[in-house]
Amino acid sequence: MKIACIGAGYVGGPTMAMVALKCPEIEVVVVDINEERIKAWNSDKLPIYEPGLFEVVKECRGRNLFFSTDTKKHVGEADIVFVSVNTPTKTHGIGAGKAADLTYWEGAARLIASVSTSSKIVVEKSTVPVKTAEAIGKVLKRNCQDPNVQFEILSNPEFLAEGTAMEDLRNPDRVLVGGADTESGRKAIETLASVYAHWIPRERILTANLWSAELAKLTANAFLAQRISSINAISALCEATGADVSQVAHAIGTDSRIGPKFLNASVGFGGSCFQKDILNLCYVCESVGLKEVAEYWYQVVSMNDYQKQRFVERVISAMFNTVSQKKIAIYGFAFKKDTGDTRETPAIDVCKGLIRDGAKVCVYDPEVTPEQIFRDLSAPKFEWDRPNYSRSQSHMLENVQVVSDPAAAAEGAHAICILTEWDEFKTYDYQAMYDKMTKPAFIFDGRNTLDHVKLREIGFIVYALGKPLDPFLVKGY
Ligand code: UDX
Ligand code: UDX
Ligand code: ADP
Repeated sequence: MKIACIGAGYVGGPTMAMVALKCPEIEVVVVDINEERIKAWNSDKLPIYEPGLFEVVKECRGRNLFFSTDTKKHVGEADIVFVSVNTPTKTHGIGAGKAADLTYWEGAARLIASVSTSSKIVVEKSTVPVKTAEAIGKVLKRNCQDPNVQFEILSNPEFLAEGTAMEDLRNPDRVLVGGADTESGRKAIETLASVYAHWIPRERILTANLWSAELAKLTANAFLAQRISSINAISALCEATGADVSQVAHAIGTDSRIGPKFLNASVGFGGSCFQKDILNLCYVCESVGLKEVAEYWYQVVSMNDYQKQRFVERVISAMFNTVSQKKIAIYGFAFKKDTGDTRETPAIDVCKGLIRDGAKVCVYDPEVTPEQIFRDLSAPKFEWDRPNYSRSQSHMLENVQVVSDPAAAAEGAHAICILTEWDEFKTYDYQAMYDKMTKPAFIFDGRNTLDHVKLREIGFIVYALGKPLDPFLVKGY
């Protein structure tokens, strides 16, 4: 059996590496139109950072895992074609700011149709709006010259989270395969299920109809994001009342109906999926006339924007209502730890907010490149999911510095903002940082990851999300 995957990104790359590792008799080829990306997949410096990924790629590459730009050849030869191309949010036209732009998906479908001389199973891997399979089916069937070629479309949404992708792929809670309820549909579902069955117990391979599988992906991300917005809403109330959000989260999480995971208050959720998928869900609701349902889910995104804005306002108000010309160290730019990914990271909005008020930000992140940070701080909203979006000449950048040493970021700074929960942030010598900072020295912990008691003993004024105020401040020092 031969598998091709169109799109060598965060989803396609790791997923196919795991399939190749677990199914040595299957040839897996990941193709992409981006030559640089393919070159990187074939090198020792992979285009994405994911713990454990390089080891798997190294073991399989050249054996039964290949990365190529020859899309026609490999898609043409494949029995199963996974599609994991980017699906950006539309920036203009109908549905701008909400609907998914399926340009890349349609491009992939047209490519599959034009090179197919044998029947294929086409698998939706990247998140798409509900009923995309129907549209894609039309493109495939009407563009293929060979009447003997049949396409069976499956929805097989990916639930991996970045930073833990390899573990999530190795040992997933479930795999979901949706397909048509016809004989050929059921056969295709079974073919794909048998690939996963190489390493995943059958009872964890769920099957569903196409639309349920597509909708399950959007719903899963909406529910996960909703938990974060819910606890973040409570974090604001905690700060106003003297309650501690960690204590509240622990207390509610022990109720098995609620559960303990995904209840960490934060400066806001980021990542390529949550906001995009909720906006998508809202757009789908609106387009079938369900305005109230769309409004309900949209609140999850609004609360997230509020949380980021609230963080910026807290920094400014704590620093005597002005950050003008003040150096502020930013620890962490990635949207979460253990990834170099910055798509929709809250750090973008927080940095922009501080700079708008006159601050000079100095960013340190262990994985994100300076080039990426500059690009993110100058790019218009929603541009990140389009290839080759470029760094514009934004005035923002005059007030951004990126350093490779956390101590250099703290030197002379008035404040440190923790925006990503990298483990290494807990290990720093904060006394040394404090000694080199301008006083009073502030720490704003947007991830509640540091030891606040210890920091206060050193002399820092500490603000943490959803936590009681610094006792010194309460006493009026
Ligand atoms: C609730 C809380 O569960 C309990 O912890 C608290 O102390 C008091 O309020 P109660 O109202 O008695 O308890 O019942 P509960 O089982 O929570 O159901 C509340 C309502 O939600 C019911 O009308 C129930 O039918 C409905 N429900 C519950 C659903 O519609 N769907 C569900 O999945 C669960
Ligand atoms: C998410 C889903 O978890 C995954 O199943 C789906 O396939 C893709 O989207 P990902 O975006 O990679 O994965 O990371 P995730 O761990 O879900 O974190 C998303 C954001 O929420 C991060 O910015 C993270 O810091 C934030 N978060 C997460 C919180 O603020 N609090 C939490 O308790 C958990
Ligand atoms: P995700 O996070 O969903 O994996 P990425 O943006 O990381 O998304 O990856 C999507 C990849 O798909 C990009 O590398 C892009 O170049 C590639 N791609 C988009 N359209 C096509 C196409 N028609 N043929 C081949 N590759 C494509």
